[in-house]
Amino acid sequence: MSLSSIIKNIPKTELHLHIEGSLTPELMWRLAEKHSVTLPYASVEEIAAAYNFKDLQSFLDLYYAGAGVLKDEDDFFSLMWAYLVKCHEENIVHTEIMFDPQTHTERGIGFDIFMPGFLRAMKKAQDEFGTSSYLIMSFLRHLSEENAFETLEAAAPYYANIQAVGLDSSELGHPPSKFERVFKKAKSMGFKIVAHAGEEGPAEYIWEAIKLLEVDRIDHGVRCQEDESLMRYLKDKQVPLTVCPLSNLKLCVIDNMKQHNILTLLRYGLLVTVNSDDPTYFGGFLNDNYHALCEALPITGEDIKTLAKNSFTASFLPEEVKQTFIAQIDDI
Ligand code: ADE
Ligand code: ZN
Repeated sequence: MSLSSIIKNIPKTELHLHIEGSLTPELMWRLAEKHSVTLPYASVEEIAAAYNFKDLQSFLDLYYAGAGVLKDEDDFFSLMWAYLVKCHEENIVHTEIMFDPQTHTERGIGFDIFMPGFLRAMKKAQDEFGTSSYLIMSFLRHLSEENAFETLEAAAPYYANIQAVGLDSSELGHPPSKFERVFKKAKSMGFKIVAHAGEEGPAEYIWEAIKLLEVDRIDHGVRCQEDESLMRYLKDKQVPLTVCPLSNLKLCVIDNMKQHNILTLLRYGLLVTVNSDDPTYFGGFLNDNYHALCEALPITGEDIKTLAKNSFTASFLPEEVKQTFIAQIDDI
């Protein structure tokens, strides 16, 4: 089977996807018209053409501005539904989706607006496609820990719909240690824990996420290679890394996909997975990320299968569900 057929046909999970980062230029344009929001672009094409970033912050500035068109429950439904249709097309059978509540609450849009929209789309995808999905509530690390505590409290009516708590936004200068207490609280409440670390920030931030936040997964983590003892720890403990190749390229974490270290990390024995991060901003959904790796690196069909199996192992699915899908991949 060709690499393309393997990528297309194997069941996969996606574990690192910001729902606000799946807003297409077309939907942004439609919602801007609907709500009479003035965008700094003259057309859908101009929106897409603006997606050239020099670093994480230059992306985040556009991403937060783009989310400004999301105002009512239907908008959040449309956003989530469009992503879940894409999952169905790509044979993503399960996805663990991050959302940034503070991006919306700071604009006066509360949990009772976005959560029902998200949940309605997630139920429809489960009913119509059999696609399962979990939600990860992510705190914005450029805001204070107190603000994160307030957000955790505001989510109370929806705790049963949220599987994990995460940490994202501007990494440099906002280490995991800033959020130690709020993550301790979230952990004690039974949430799984993830955190972006080692995307632009140093290996030390990955250690902090492990030791202080007690993460179940690291989002990105590609800078782990700078610390040999960290590499050994990640391998011994099989701490999952949710790696996002096209994101790393678009945000200039690497200059060229040939420089991507995912294959080196995989061969070393780390539990690495492939993900799209913010697909409409970075030029590709999940399968495009697999394709981009295949074009740049000497990846085999077995590697693709291992990466897809890793995506189940690293997920928060029940063990028996993971094993069912892993067995399906082994049979391909
Ligand atoms: N929010 C959305 N995408 C992100 C990324 N790649 N890093 C940090 N925060 C984000
Ligand atoms: Zn991310």
